[in-house]
Order: sequence, then structure tokens, then C-alpha cells
Amino acid sequence: MSKNKILVTGGAGYIGSHTVVELINAGYKPVIIDDFSNSSPRILEQIELITGVKPEFHKFDLCDQNATEEFVKANPDIQGVIHFAAFKAVGESVENPLKYYHNNFFSLINLLKAFDGREVNFVFSSSCTVYGQPDNLPVNEDADVKKAESPYGNTKQIAEEILQEIAQVNKKLNVTVLRYFNPVGAHASALIGELPIGVPQNLVPFITQSAIGKRGPITVYGNDYQTPDGSCIRDYIHVVDLAKAHIAAIQLMEAETINLNYSTFNIGTGRGSSVLEVINAFEKATEVKLDYKIGPRRKGDIEKVYGDVSKAEHELGWKSELDLSEMMRSAWAWEKYLQENPLFE
Ligand code: WQD
Repeated sequence: MSKNKILVTGGAGYIGSHTVVELINAGYKPVIIDDFSNSSPRILEQIELITGVKPEFHKFDLCDQNATEEFVKANPDIQGVIHFAAFKAVGESVENPLKYYHNNFFSLINLLKAFDGREVNFVFSSSCTVYGQPDNLPVNEDADVKKAESPYGNTKQIAEEILQEIAQVNKKLNVTVLRYFNPVGAHASALIGELPIGVPQNLVPFITQSAIGKRGPITVYGNDYQTPDGSCIRDYIHVVDLAKAHIAAIQLMEAETINLNYSTFNIGTGRGSSVLEVINAFEKATEVKLDYKIGPRRKGDIEKVYGDVSKAEHELGWKSELDLSEMMRSAWAWEKYLQENPLFE
């Protein structure tokens, strides 16, 4: 008997698709809404290859208020929502802020209006970006949210404020905000992973594309930071561990042991790794030598951030299990799968 029906917006995307797999594994019935603006319908078949289940999906833009309202009205049995659908490229958001504010806010507000008055457990995809450069490390959930360094980061900060204020007045809405650190890696089957659209801005997809010969040498953006090897430090988390945190959040709200009207959790490993350490971990895990050079710092980068993840462990009952080596191994296996299956290009 399937458990509750969970709406997954952006469910064909990188983190969304991995979360759909884990929902199916946990016995839930995921329903995907995706406009495929940053993903491919092929991913739905890949999910079926992994789980034996081809998830129900609906192709439309959540910025379309009528379509969103009609869908929610036609699905009174949806008990939970995991909201991934949003634009998330930091650099692009600086060049085109209006595109980001329009898409990321209208989609969220249309969803909240459509579910207004209904009991619903709502998981929101947020980011450690909201902390900026924390004053203290590891950063915990009570740290100050600093002025966003990009429109993308600002949409996450403002979305959290919107959700908190609405949850305060609408007691039928339970909200859990998950602040991701740096998601990397791919499913162990190598059948789903981060879909590369254009030149990767993020470190790990660039590493794997450089390693397979699609890109030239990696540029390490600065080695003159106040860190042990001079390169920036981040808290990289395996996308499968991250996906499982969403199931834990839904289960906690379903348990109703405590009234989780609004809560926030850091979802990371609690460990920081430098750019050069990631490069070394990739070479060690894959036995593939990388070609890289040191370049100038990238505008907008913070020096170091990693999470205090004790609250997720104690209250969410979740902690990361996969290490940097498995993150690199799985990312490389996915890159090789893409080379043999250019169906996504
Ligand atoms: C990581 C480190 C770079 C590329 C961003 C968003 C965050 C989240 C994840 C959405 C940095 C360095 C990178 C390269 C490099 N996105 N780097 N050479 O910037 O920490 O986080 O993506 O939720 O919100 O802010 O991730 O992978 O771009 O960079 O040296 O070719 O790798 O300078 O230190 P970032 P990233």
C-alpha cells in the first residue's frame, strides 16, 4: 500500500530526481511537476530503470497561476510538497535578476495560494548561500542571515521569510526549510546525475568534464585565501544523502510528535574540503590525473563555509553517510555514462 502522495516540483532536476528515487524507495507516491527548462523528460525513464516505477508527472510552469490552481484542486490527496523548482545559477542571477525574482517568487506564491486552507507538509529547498561568509564556523541555523551576495541568494532568503510568515498565520501549513551546502555526486547506478547544460559553473561538473576531455584544464579560482592550502573551502554533500534528508523531513512532519509549524535544518556533512583537496580526492578515487592551473579569485566567492549539522542529526534523525571519495567516484561514473549515452544533449 503506497504511503502518502508527495508533490515534487522540479522533480526531473538534479536534486529533485534523486529525491523522487528515495521517495519511491521509502514507499511514497511522488508526483512530479516540471517545465523541463533545466532538465530532461528522459530522466523520468531513468528513474523507472532504477526503481521500476515511472513517476506520474505533469509538464507546466508553476508561474502559471491557473494551471497551478487547477492541478492542486484536481489532486486533493496530496499530503506533502517538496519544492525544488527554481532557477539556481548564481552568476546568471546577477546578469538577469528579474528572471530570477519572477520565476522563484511567482512559482512559490502560486503554490502556497493553491494549497491555502489545506493541511500540507511543505519542504523548501534553501541554501547555505543565505549565510554569506559566516562570522563563526561551523555555521549553525541560528547564525545571522547576511545580505545576499546575489539575486539568487536573495530569492532564497526572501522565500524563507515568506514561508515563515505564512506558516505563522496558516496552522494547516507545516514548513521545513533545508539549507543545502554543496550538492555533488550521482546515484550509484550512474543512471541519474547532474545534467550539464552549457559550461558548468560549479566545480565538480567542471572537473568531470575536464577529466573526460569535454573541457580544458580546470582553473582553481584563487589559492591566496586564508585556508591551509590557500584555496576556498566548502561543505560538499553527496546528492543521495541530501535526497534522503527530504524524506526524513516529510516523515518528521507526518509523525506530528512535535508541532513542526516552521523549522530550518543545515544539510551538509559538517566537514570542509578545499578546492585542491577535491581535486586530489577525485584523482585518488578515479585514478584519473587532472590538468589544472591556479587562476584569479572568482567574484562573489566566499572564503570558507561548512555546516554545524548536529540539529539535523538530533531532530531530523538524519546524517550524511557518503564520503568525498564516493562523491567523486559517482560523479565520474555519471560523466562516463553521459559520454556513452548522449541522449541528454
Ligand atoms: C565551489 C568552489 C569556487 C569552479 C554555488 C552556489 C550555491 C549552490 C552550489 C545552488 C568555489 C571553486 C569552482 C571552477 C573553482 N548552488 N571553483 N573552479 O559557489 O560554493 O556554490 O553552487 O544552490 O548556492 O552559491 O559552488 O561549485 O561553483 O564552487 O576553483 O571551475 O570551487 O571558487 O571556491 P559554490 P561552486
